[in-house]
Amino acid sequence: LKIRDALGLINLRPPHPSARVRQLAACHSIEDLENLARRKLPRSVLDYVGGGADGEWSLSNNTTAIQKWSFTPRVLTDVSRTSTATEILGQPAAAPLGFAPTGYTRMISPLGEPAVAAAAARAGIPYVLSTMATTSLEDLAEGGDPNADRWFQLYIWRDRQLTRRLIDRAQASGYRVLEIAVDTAVSGLRLRDARNGFTIPPQLTLSSVLDIGTKPGYWTGMLRSPTMEFANVSSADALDGGYTIENITKQFDPSVGWSDLEEIRAQWNGKLVLKGPIGPADARRAKELGVDALHLSNHGGRQLDRAIAPIDLVRPVREAVGDSVGVLVDSGFRHGADIATAIALGADAAFVGRPYLWGLVAGGHDGLDMTARLLIDGLRRTMQLLGVATVEELRRRGPELLSHQSQ
Ligand SMILES: Cc1cc2nc3c(=O)[nH]c(=O)nc-3n(C[C@H](O)[C@H](O)[C@H](O)COP(=O)(O)O)c2cc1C
Repeated sequence: LKIRDALGLINLRPPHPSARVRQLAACHSIEDLENLARRKLPRSVLDYVGGGADGEWSLSNNTTAIQKWSFTPRVLTDVSRTSTATEILGQPAAAPLGFAPTGYTRMISPLGEPAVAAAAARAGIPYVLSTMATTSLEDLAEGGDPNADRWFQLYIWRDRQLTRRLIDRAQASGYRVLEIAVDTAVSGLRLRDARNGFTIPPQLTLSSVLDIGTKPGYWTGMLRSPTMEFANVSSADALDGGYTIENITKQFDPSVGWSDLEEIRAQWNGKLVLKGPIGPADARRAKELGVDALHLSNHGGRQLDRAIAPIDLVRPVREAVGDSVGVLVDSGFRHGADIATAIALGADAAFVGRPYLWGLVAGGHDGLDMTARLLIDGLRRTMQLLGVATVEELRRRGPELLSHQSQ
């Protein structure tokens, strides 16, 4: 065989002129997106996104706990028309998946929350805007897809006027679901942020100036974009002493109790969700007070360290509250098989935080689309290989499909 003949057999495709497109095309998993994102972010921002509280036990255990479940598939079932379509709290969704609330998104990419909301709407899944967003809830609602499923996550502030105002504003802007974070009575100690002297937005210290040389794309994007602010709570409203995480979370009220929940239930007309590492007894109490769903979460390992992995709360909480209350879960979900595990245990949907932030950093709008696609395609493939055709069937047959390593 002559070299010329051999070359004729090789299908040579010219590389795409854009490095961003080439890099993204080489990503085939959430881990690939994370590795790409890690090359683009300065150390302190990377630590802020990727890090967890204290010894990061919760952080590393979240995914490990999901992977302790294994599947026994059903074979020879017709899965030619498998669909991931479902309903989340009464609203149709393309898959049992959502983008969880993450604060300060414009610090991670100048595209910020509007890009994440738009990608969620394109994918047909909900996005939860954080109280600590860098886009106001009004701007997001007005500028976004009118058909988007809009959720708002509320932190309860010491200043209850501010808290009540936020609820009214969410109602006036047409948000369908209000999620109250109940895992943030005080801030978790994120050692990486403390050691980095991390502030929001990151300040140009000597080490970050040195960093500009290695991550020029990040810093030029940041320096060119308008000054970042907490668009839902102005600094006059809530903050003094600077934008360190500690200062901000000092404004959250550690005295919050069940009576506050009753007040919020009376004020909010839409669906109400509690977000945190909620056990069966608290879940039952929440149900009695008219909560529509429990979003089981340990904040991606950023709050209570050594917290139970939320995947292990799904079954006991579902058993405690029955079918009339929604069960959502996040923390550590990185693959469609992880989502399938949650559904098979009785959840209505799984949410992700860091995976879409990695997608956003790795490839902007395209990277966000890729995050949703990887997770939804992965779920569909897992369902087909499991021998189930619908999300409802996956949930119903869960007990026969799943076994735990400890069993
Ligand atoms: C950078 C970052 C910021 C976050 N900010 C918030 C927030 O403002 N409010 C909130 O309720 N949860 C927040 N979370 C927690 C997420 O909503 C979600 O529970 C968590 O990311 C899920 O874990 P995962 O990152 O492993 O998917 C944040 C998470 C990250 C990674």
